[in-house]
Amino acid sequence: MWPDQHYTGRPKPETRLGRGERVSAVLLRCVSLCFMLASCIHVSLCSDGDWDFNWCDVGWLRENFDHSYMEEHVRICHFRNHYELTRKNLMVKNLKRYRKTLEREAGRLEASKCDFFPCTFVLPSEYHIFVEEFKRSPGSTWIMKPVARSQGKGIFLFRKLKDIIDWKKDGSRSEEQKDEAQVESYVAQRYIENPYLIAGRKFDLRVYVLVTSYIPLKALLYRDGFARFSNTRFSLSSIDDQYVHLTNVAVQKTSPDYDPEKGCKWQMQQLRQYLTAKHGFETVQTLFKEIDNIFIRSLLSVQKTIINDKHCFELYGYDILLDQDLKPWLIEVNASPSLTASSQEDYELKYRLLEDTLHIVDMEGRLTGKEKRVGGFDLMWNDGPVYTDVGLETLGSSCLVANTHLGCVNDRQKQLQQLLKPFPGQKRT
Ligand SMILES: Nc1ncnc2c1ncn2[C@@H]1O[C@H](COP(=O)(O)OP(=O)(O)O)[C@@H](O)[C@H]1O
Ligand SMILES: [Mg+2]
Repeated sequence: MWPDQHYTGRPKPETRLGRGERVSAVLLRCVSLCFMLASCIHVSLCSDGDWDFNWCDVGWLRENFDHSYMEEHVRICHFRNHYELTRKNLMVKNLKRYRKTLEREAGRLEASKCDFFPCTFVLPSEYHIFVEEFKRSPGSTWIMKPVARSQGKGIFLFRKLKDIIDWKKDGSRSEEQKDEAQVESYVAQRYIENPYLIAGRKFDLRVYVLVTSYIPLKALLYRDGFARFSNTRFSLSSIDDQYVHLTNVAVQKTSPDYDPEKGCKWQMQQLRQYLTAKHGFETVQTLFKEIDNIFIRSLLSVQKTIINDKHCFELYGYDILLDQDLKPWLIEVNASPSLTASSQEDYELKYRLLEDTLHIVDMEGRLTGKEKRVGGFDLMWNDGPVYTDVGLETLGSSCLVANTHLGCVNDRQKQLQQLLKPFPGQKRT
C-alpha cells in the first residue's frame, strides 16, 4: 500500500504493461467495496465507462460485457458465463455430465471421485424423475432452493410430496415474476441429514478459490476461510426452522439468539486444529485432500464450457458441508462471495483476501507468473496438479504433496515481502 502515491491522471496503456515497470495509476470501477479495494492497491476511482480494473457485480456483467471494448491490460472480476458453475442447477448439470464423461473414458472408479454433490433435480423440468427418486426413499428429507438466489432466500425443507404440489401451485414464482406468469426454477436436493456437529450445532465452510484462466486451468486456494455455525442445536424434528438448518450468516444474524459480539464463525485454522485434536492428523489430512478434490473436479467440469478470456478472473466462494463421517459435500459455488464483514477478525480476513487477489491479478506487473504462492494464495492447479517443493526435497520425488494449505498458518506478510520487490525509490514496509 502506498497511500502517498495516488495519482489521478490516466496513464497510457503501454506504460502499464511491462513487468516491474511502475504504473502511475489503475482506474478502478467498483460499485461496492471501493474504499477497501482502493486502499489495497494503487488505484484511482473512475466514472462508469472508463476503467482498467472492474470489480463489478454479475448484473453489470450481464448488461455491459458484450458491449465493452477491453484493451489488452484491463481486468474484470467475472468470466462471461460464470453462471455455468455458480447457478445451482447448471453446476449440477455440468458435474453430472463430467461424471458421465469420466465414467466412459476412465471408468467407474475415476467417475466416483465426483460423488461429492447431493442427489439433485431441477424443478419444474425434472419433476417426474424427481418423484421417482423421492418415492424410492420414503421419509427422507429434501431441500428446495431457488437456482439463482442467495443468502438462504426462498429455501425450504420438505418430506412430503404434497409440499411440492402446493409449491407448484403458488410458491414457484418469485415476487417479480408473479405478474409475468413465469415459473422460477428450483433445485430439489437431498438434504444432508447427518451433518458434522460441534457443540450440537451444524456449520458449513466458506472457502475462496481464485481462477485466473480456464485454458489452461490455473486455480489458487486461499489459506484462510471460515466455518459458519447455526445458533440453534441441530435436530431433524423441526424442519421448518431456518435457524437450525441454514448456516448463512444473513439468516443467522436475524436469529433472536444471535450475539453480534460472538458472531457465528470460526476461522478455518481453528476448525482444522479442532478436527485434528479430535480425529488425528491423518484423518484430517484425508478430509482436506477430499476438499481439494471438490475444487478441482468442479472447475474441470466447466473448463470447456466457460468462455476463457484473458481479461477475466474469478474469486469463487465455495460452500462445503461436512457430514458425521467427515465426508465433504459441495453445496454451491458463489460468484460474488460476501465481502461484508461481521467482526474485526472477519474484516481483516476479507481485506487480506482482496489484497492478495489484487497481487495475483497484478495490474502493476510485479510477478513472473511462475509463483507457486502469493501471500495467502497457493497455486493448486496449473494445467495439472501442483506439488509443494518441501515434499520433493525431504521425501524424494516419489512422495508428492499437494500445494494446498487450507486452514494452515497464513504468514503472508513475510512471504509477500520476499516476493514483491519494492518499486524503485520505495522503502520496504
Ligand atoms: N443439501 C443440503 N443439505 C444440508 N444443508 C444444506 C443443503 N443445501 C443447503 N444447505 C444449507 O442451506 C444453506 C443455504 O444453501 P445454499 O445452497 O448455499 O443457498 P444460498 O445461495 O441461499 O446460500 C447452506 O449454507 C447450508 O447450511
Ligand atoms: Mg450459500
